Amino acid sequence: MSEDHKAAEKPWGGRFSEPTDAFVERFTASVGFDRRLYHHDIAGSMAHARMLARVGVLTEAERDQIIEGLEAVRSDIEAGRFEWSVSLEDVHMNIEAALTERIGVTGKKLHTGRSRNDQVATDIRLYLRDEIDAISDELHRLQNGLLDLAEREAATIMPGFTHLQSAQPVTFGHHMMAWFEMLERDYGRLQDCRARMNQMPLGAAALAGTSYPIDRAYTAELLGFDKPTENSLDSVSDRDFAIEFTSFAALLLTHLSRCSEELVLWTSAQFDFIDLPDRFCTGSSIMPQKKNPDVPELVRGKTGRVNGHLVSLLTLMKSQPLAYNKDNQEDKEPLFDTVDTVKGVLKAYADMMPAVTVKAENTRAAASRGFATATDLADYLVRQGVPFRDAHEIVGQSVAFADGQGLDLEELSLEQLQQFSDAIGKDVFEVLTLDGSVRARDHIGGTAPGQVREAVARARQRLAQR
Ligand code: ARG
Repeated sequence: MSEDHKAAEKPWGGRFSEPTDAFVERFTASVGFDRRLYHHDIAGSMAHARMLARVGVLTEAERDQIIEGLEAVRSDIEAGRFEWSVSLEDVHMNIEAALTERIGVTGKKLHTGRSRNDQVATDIRLYLRDEIDAISDELHRLQNGLLDLAEREAATIMPGFTHLQSAQPVTFGHHMMAWFEMLERDYGRLQDCRARMNQMPLGAAALAGTSYPIDRAYTAELLGFDKPTENSLDSVSDRDFAIEFTSFAALLLTHLSRCSEELVLWTSAQFDFIDLPDRFCTGSSIMPQKKNPDVPELVRGKTGRVNGHLVSLLTLMKSQPLAYNKDNQEDKEPLFDTVDTVKGVLKAYADMMPAVTVKAENTRAAASRGFATATDLADYLVRQGVPFRDAHEIVGQSVAFADGQGLDLEELSLEQLQQFSDAIGKDVFEVLTLDGSVRARDHIGGTAPGQVREAVARARQRLAQR
């Protein structure tokens, strides 16, 4: 980046009598990171120029000159020919200066009825809107992968846990659908954020609006916003949309950190429930036997990073008086990093999940340890007329007895079971099996394989309607 501009060349240099301190110039500049917004900055400027021509503030010839000039600047940037200058502070002034350098005095008319304050507020919304759409697609791809996996493993038995202790048998597909539902709510939150954000700030100018006869509805339409924002002070000052997006991201990562934790556990030799393909794992430089689940671990770790960005943005906004303050320049790096992190995490997960293989014999064997069908025995007794509390007690005694014998409940003989209750008949063995147990939970939201398949079908319909 070149730094050879003098004070007089600053777009705001008119009232200044000495050049900016060299350190302050670097300290206050944002071009190092906000140049990422160039595409949306140019799109916003083109729409602004079109609107100014429509209301007669620019001639049509001026408008065309500006638009052609901006197109040329954009090509320069995309071809890597653009020289970003720190002394021109930010992406907005860099592009405007390059425009004027190209087309001469007409370039200086672009900033009529506009301020960098409404300009940046517009740029970030345009940028984030595109990123939200890209993230929505990637989230959708991950959800689809989970549905395929859930369908494939709809009848695969695994232990369900509470307190990470074996609780009741569930199906692997049911477990995947739990993850799906978390992501489904994340998807909804993301769309809510987009809908609230999609209003156009241009016209707010520095803070109070502008005295030119602007047509904000027209600019909003050109840029695909639902409508112009209602209040100029609010338009240039609030970054709640960035906070809302980052809070979506923090929840998404929180959910994925939970999935990751389970994947890490399940790939361990102690669980050995699943296999992750080698291409998603790495080895150890000292222990030859190792195959580490790096992707889920890293996703779990990145949750901290995104949570940190959320706290940064909330703290940045807190107590800011109306309207724009330079503080807001600090919104970009946390926001950009959140976007990059979410996109990376979703890509990794969407690629990885369909490639997970489930070791069904191991998940079934694990489910048969730990008396996972004890609740089924209690429910059986209740159906025979035993009050639930008594049934609970009877099953507790049976479990203690079986444990003492080193047996599982279904391995006890009928006579052994009957010592605890004469309500037990030989049909009890139907409910003590793992398959009988999951099949019995046959209602919306239950773990029965048929219910899992129906949940997948309903979810596919929801996804198709997006
Ligand atoms: N780089 C600034 C930002 O990101 C642009 C707006 C500057 N406005 C101003 N009045 N200094 O917030």
